[in-house]
Amino acid sequence: MLDKTQSEIVSQVVDVFKREFGSPEGLTLVRTPGRVNLIGEHTDYNEGYVFPTTINRAVYIAVRPRSDRSCAYYSLNFQDRATWELDDIRRSEGPHWSNYIKGVMKVLVEAGCGIGGSEGVVCGDVPIASGLSSSAALEVATTFALDKAFGLGLDPVRAAVLGREAENTFVGVACGIMDQFVCRLGRKGHALFLDCRSLGYENVPLRLAKHGLLIVDTKVKRELARSAYNQRRAECEEAVRLFQAKAPGVKALRDVDLAMFNRYKDDLPDAVRRRAGHVVSEDARVLDAVRAMKEDDPENVGRLFFESHRSLREDYEVSCEELDFIVETARASGASGARLTGAGFGGCAVVLARKDVLAGLSQDIEVHYVRKFGKAPGIIALNVNYETDVIAV
Ligand code: GLA
Repeated sequence: MLDKTQSEIVSQVVDVFKREFGSPEGLTLVRTPGRVNLIGEHTDYNEGYVFPTTINRAVYIAVRPRSDRSCAYYSLNFQDRATWELDDIRRSEGPHWSNYIKGVMKVLVEAGCGIGGSEGVVCGDVPIASGLSSSAALEVATTFALDKAFGLGLDPVRAAVLGREAENTFVGVACGIMDQFVCRLGRKGHALFLDCRSLGYENVPLRLAKHGLLIVDTKVKRELARSAYNQRRAECEEAVRLFQAKAPGVKALRDVDLAMFNRYKDDLPDAVRRRAGHVVSEDARVLDAVRAMKEDDPENVGRLFFESHRSLREDYEVSCEELDFIVETARASGASGARLTGAGFGGCAVVLARKDVLAGLSQDIEVHYVRKFGKAPGIIALNVNYETDVIAV
């Protein structure tokens, strides 16, 4: 069932398709949600654990195969049309929306998947550049739509891996696997527990009968995010090299547990020690949070959120004033837990709270944030979440 907003987006997409490309016959329309990470931050590229969930904002894409090898796509968000040839795909300058679609096509062609030319329309209501994975959602939606339109029969895990490859090799962002994976494999009413090394995963029911989740968008431009992200990755690699000298079996920080970390931590340079300390403890928190969720203990999940934020702020150093302010305001207003979510340096915080305090808490955050920073945060109540699916047109 689509709610009002979703039905409106779907009919807009179909109308614009008709306007741009004629009859909608043979159209495949799919929806892929964005994501919010509950816990397990900066662990995916360290081959560790993550526990994200999909959200109630999504990217919609309608695709129809053509008989030649040309592609033409229209973005409703940017009111812009782009065209290219499947056998000569080039990156557009800057962070252009079409790069995500082109990147997926390039990766699919290189992987030997039998796609031809196509035309389509894309539209989404995942806030862009807010750390809720609008890009991963677009990559996954494109992969899924082409999979369905051309009958590729792609395995979902492989589809997620190909989406990430498009981001790494074509778009040029060195992200981990978390975003594309949860956007493709996350399920309604569940969070996804993923082992980023084996890609083994489990959809865990969100047991939140008396609790709710809020996403709070700082609306801070994440200018530092890309360079700092790459720097953190380099520091983690440095930590791996230093641990390897002590324990040759260590291939990634995933292989370092708390006991090993404590044994060798004094031999590490300060920054590297704190970065590794975050990753090692965060992996342990993910396992604890998954257990607590399964045991129907959201208060404990919340406690782990606060600990995760402390570690991200003090040791991984990827928070910012606005995120810290939201977390502290949430704490003061009775939240069970709150933390920054995603890469950091802006973007969003995720808050877990009992339903009886949720409305007041949301208002407190809004009022205090406006007073302090002179702008309103974006607040999304996560009362339902979506999954990647085909929508009948
Ligand atoms: C970004 C990346 C993810 C992950 C997070 C941090 O969202 O795209 O792969 O590394 O940062 O947890």
